[in-house]
Amino acid sequence: MAKKKKIVIANWKMNPQTVAEAKKLFLSVKKNASKTRSIKTIICPPFIYLTELKKLYSGSSISIGSQDVFFENKGAHTGEVSPKMLKNLRIQYVTIGHSEKRALGESNEIVNKKVIAASKEKMHIVLCVGEKKRDAHAGHLEFVREQLQSALSGISRQSLKNIIVAYEPIWAIGKSDEDALSPNDMHEMSIFIRKILSEIYGKKSALLVPIIYGGSAEPENVKILMKDGEIDGFLVGHASLKADDFSEILEIVNKI
Ligand code: PGA
Repeated sequence: MAKKKKIVIANWKMNPQTVAEAKKLFLSVKKNASKTRSIKTIICPPFIYLTELKKLYSGSSISIGSQDVFFENKGAHTGEVSPKMLKNLRIQYVTIGHSEKRALGESNEIVNKKVIAASKEKMHIVLCVGEKKRDAHAGHLEFVREQLQSALSGISRQSLKNIIVAYEPIWAIGKSDEDALSPNDMHEMSIFIRKILSEIYGKKSALLVPIIYGGSAEPENVKILMKDGEIDGFLVGHASLKADDFSEILEIVNKI
């Protein structure tokens, strides 16, 4: 089977505070990403910076993605941005179902509607799943199963080609490399996610879906997580706001 391209996504969340800082960060990442061609690098800034960063994008090997999208294409939906609007800006990637959106009330049903709407526009979807906590009875596996099955309801095998699964255990987000998921646990979760995808789409299609990890991915832990965790890359939050750290992550992943 052809080797899947590695994927590293920067989730800037609600940062940085000015467009000038956003441009500076983008340009330094762009410079380093051009040296790490084995990786698909995607930067997800706040909505408000998308157009400005698009102007700096030319000739770069990176893509720009959105952190969210709404499930309707137009109408009375104050504050929302549609898949068509993103497509019109040539934004191809979107993260959906991030735990910080779910914490504000985004249900599995809403996540599913967003996945369907973005999929209709043929966007590349980074579907975020992950449990709040773990217990001895492996309740987290059922939790992730439910999130995945529900998010993908109505998504065809053909559309699965545009899905990347980002496993982000909430308890590991925004901490330090020592608090991240262990490579062994990541390995177990990758197998589990593929098993669920296989149940729905068959093994062949399931194997093609990239699985990435998010939750305190830092220069210190990406190598071991990538080598032993059966993953295709990372969704990086706080470490993506420091150009040096993010570039180091790209360099390390590029060499694996
Ligand atoms: P973190 O965030 O790298 O700061 O843990 C990851 C995420 O929430 O996507």
